[in-house]
Amino acid sequence: MIMSQKKRTIIEPFKIKIVEPLPMFTRSQRAEFLEIAGNNLFLIPARQVTFDFLTDSGTTAMSANQWGAMMVADESYAGSRSYEKFEKVVQSLTGYEHVIPTHQGRAAEHLLFSTVLKPGQKVPSNNHFDTTRANIEQLGCEAVDLVIDEASQPQLEHPFKGNICLKKLERFCEENIGNIPLGMITVTNNTGGGQPVSIENIRGAAKIYQKYNIPFFIDACRFAENAFFVKQRESEFKNSSVKNIVQTMFSLASGCVVSAKKDGLVNIGGFLALKKGDWVQGLRNRLILTEGFVTYGGLAARDLEALAVGLEEVLDENYLSYRLAVSQYMSDRLNKMGVPTLLPPGGHAVYIDAKKFLPHIPPHEFPGQALACELYLAEGVRSCEIGSVMFGAKKNGEFIPSKLELVRLAFPRRVYTQSHFDYILEGLEQVVEVKDKLKGFAFTYEPPFLKHFTARFKRL
Ligand SMILES: Cc1ncc(COP(=O)(O)O)c(C=O)c1O
Repeated sequence: MIMSQKKRTIIEPFKIKIVEPLPMFTRSQRAEFLEIAGNNLFLIPARQVTFDFLTDSGTTAMSANQWGAMMVADESYAGSRSYEKFEKVVQSLTGYEHVIPTHQGRAAEHLLFSTVLKPGQKVPSNNHFDTTRANIEQLGCEAVDLVIDEASQPQLEHPFKGNICLKKLERFCEENIGNIPLGMITVTNNTGGGQPVSIENIRGAAKIYQKYNIPFFIDACRFAENAFFVKQRESEFKNSSVKNIVQTMFSLASGCVVSAKKDGLVNIGGFLALKKGDWVQGLRNRLILTEGFVTYGGLAARDLEALAVGLEEVLDENYLSYRLAVSQYMSDRLNKMGVPTLLPPGGHAVYIDAKKFLPHIPPHEFPGQALACELYLAEGVRSCEIGSVMFGAKKNGEFIPSKLELVRLAFPRRVYTQSHFDYILEGLEQVVEVKDKLKGFAFTYEPPFLKHFTARFKRL
């Protein structure tokens, strides 16, 4: 895909064994679908989408080894062989003794926070993902973002834009001593565009958390993508294996919460793992109440089998090199044709800066929505507006726009090929040609919260 330093093309490092037809339609058919869906891409059935870049979560193509492992799963209610396999893989990867499976990431978050947090407490991180924030806030606590200032400048290049600001963190811990039940870091930083966090930064944060006696948890959904960025960009690790970098990272923390729907290379699953046993009994009691017995936690044993294989497959450096090349390739090509993106590209997605691309559409007419709809009409691409539709607010009747107007193309793992991406880029050239003629949108139905999921729009 991209020419490496040795001028070799980075290829998809897999053969395709099972295929699924791509739904193909004409522009006028898509216009009809969009009209019926109230110009909201969330309301379009997947069968009407050609390239689905809505999310990288749970959309992975599994390998033959994963499907094979599913067939030998032991579906015993308690103490299944599949759990033992899964537990061993997580222990080896994280170094944490206590492994608690959950059906997805937010269940692990809910389990941890509802067991440990008390109303009025504060939880710092670089950036909390929205489910993490919601799970903290619904317990009457505060989720505090302390990412470095560079993260808020879309075009600024920085190798580790996901880093937590250590100065802010030290001050925060000092000021809130005794009221921080745990501290976090998200790798990669999804909220900030999938940006990586350096090991040096994680070490620094771990030291501060340790100084104030605060347990440190990593939200580690994209641990392998983060580790490969570390290998590429942090000189100390240029000769380390990805597994070694991952193990180094986890060794610095007290535990982790993981949505396995990303770097677990599975369609469903998650887990919580901890170095020490203090909270484990309480966590397991609550798990039994909400998710299921301690050795399956809301999953089928076959899901645990697939996950045990996925967690090892994801460490393959050929895979990771291809994986990170996808967003780099898309970002470079988009920039070359005059489509601005957040820089540098993150691991799992590119974010188009719709405010810069469509300056004639003001924020209250939703430039991100205009671009997302045009990408669907032109190409059958489903993307996600992350701008004033999602985050815009009204205060005393006045519209308060989102800071950024972005359109995210999140790439499912091992699903689309080089020619798919080239085809999309070809079509995008036509979008660039007509961009000044694109029109904004207005709500015809504005839900009271989480508007982007169910809102309906009219074209202005
Ligand atoms: C950083 C991060 N944390 C937590 C979650 C929540 O995981 P899940 O969707 O499996 O509940 C996500 C999902 O996108 C995420 O990106």
